[in-house]
Amino acid sequence: MSFYRHHVFICTNQRAAGDSCCNNHGASDLLAYMKDKVKALGLAGEGQVRVNKAGCLGRCDDGPLLVIYPQETWYTFIDEQDIDEIVEKHLLAGEIVERLKL
Ligand code: FES
Repeated sequence: MSFYRHHVFICTNQRAAGDSCCNNHGASDLLAYMKDKVKALGLAGEGQVRVNKAGCLGRCDDGPLLVIYPQETWYTFIDEQDIDEIVEKHLLAGEIVERLKL
């Protein structure tokens, strides 16, 4: 059994201005937003959900992006509404958010 039911890694890699990277699309702000939301919903902790900052995940042209283990589900996102949907559907209801899936 996994230590976390859902372990989320959000790429916040920052490259020099002009180069493609997730942080040029607000990934750090949305990481903070997601962490706060998971905590506020009482989902954070062992056996539940962990949201971690990650370096480059090697799919820069698809970013900004996150991956959730152990399901190995990759998502892109652009705003807080997308993060809300990933939290409410994937993390809470266990459903895949097809429109954001990579
Ligand atoms: S910069 Fe985010 S995947 Fe490479």
